[in-house]
Amino acid sequence: MTDQSPQAQVESITKAFEQDFGRFASFSDDPSALSSLGLDAALAEQRAVTELRTRYLGKKSDLAAAKKLIGRVAPEERAGFGQLVQATQDKLETMLDQVELSLRNYIEAERTARESIDVTMPGRRPRTGHRHPITLLRERLEDVFVALGYAIEDDREIETDFYNFDALNIPENHPARAWQDTFYTVDGFALRSQTSTVQIHAMQRRGVPVRMIAPGRVFRRDTPDPTHNPMFFQVEGLCVDRGITMAHLKGTVAEFLRRMFGPDTVTRFRPSYFPFTEPSAEFDFSCFKCKGSGCRICKNSGWIELGGSGMVHPNVLRAVGVDPQEYSGFAFGLGIDRMCALMYELDDIRLLFENDVRFLEKFE
Ligand code: DAH
Repeated sequence: MTDQSPQAQVESITKAFEQDFGRFASFSDDPSALSSLGLDAALAEQRAVTELRTRYLGKKSDLAAAKKLIGRVAPEERAGFGQLVQATQDKLETMLDQVELSLRNYIEAERTARESIDVTMPGRRPRTGHRHPITLLRERLEDVFVALGYAIEDDREIETDFYNFDALNIPENHPARAWQDTFYTVDGFALRSQTSTVQIHAMQRRGVPVRMIAPGRVFRRDTPDPTHNPMFFQVEGLCVDRGITMAHLKGTVAEFLRRMFGPDTVTRFRPSYFPFTEPSAEFDFSCFKCKGSGCRICKNSGWIELGGSGMVHPNVLRAVGVDPQEYSGFAFGLGIDRMCALMYELDDIRLLFENDVRFLEKFE
């Protein structure tokens, strides 16, 4: 800008400014130009205007340089030039002030609008969780047995062969190991295939007499299908004392089922085989839906098969150092998932573990 006259220099400053200022000009003239901007863009424009002010009016601006020329122009031109510089500065300042004011007002209004809440709007209801159907059923089972004087045992899911098999009278090569095939670790542990393991832990820990139930997860090498899962829940029961007989077993299981399914529920026992009980029996109860006349749930038989039971095998008592001459007991076990599926008429027990909220919500 050096070979221009000082007046021409100031004029070209004004021109350059007007060009740069152009896109902001509408903000002060036309309110709709602002309202289409939005808060974030307005904040960016506000920073751009500040930069423009520094560029044209700051200490290092061309206008500041022109000011220094006032003393150097010919004395007869000095007053006129001084006025030109001052007038230019005033004009730029006014234009910038106006745009800044409009932007500031708009930003403030936008912020207020954004922060204000409409107290008449309906609130968003927090979604409360609830217990899983398996948990709900487990708690009902626990309540029944606690009322009958049983303790609740919660034990480990990773086991040694001793607890899962040997102590339960299932020695190595016993065929019962095959249908209870489970998941093994390389260092001799396995995921328990039955909650019967807790019979052993409970007697070791508490000694006898003992009355306990043990709900919990068990694992088997099964391919998932509508009635099988490689992980499922069982509840085990154990009662050992002097003089316990099969009558106690039948009375306990029958009472449990009456409390679960109503006072008319009939229980029946069928001879069966389990390695850890002798004699052994499976138990069924009269269908809670059709009361025994036959329906889809009981496959028209009137009976629902529920679990296994029997008198604790003397070898199981011996495995934990209890004298079978002095003590006797009964044990039983049943699948919680299966019971849950029956009670809620689920066609596929895998639904229980798919974590689909639409399904789980039905059990509140
Ligand atoms: N543990 C057996 C199973 O997983 C169920 C069972 C049967 C448990 C008879 C018992 C019992 O305590 O006496 O199939």
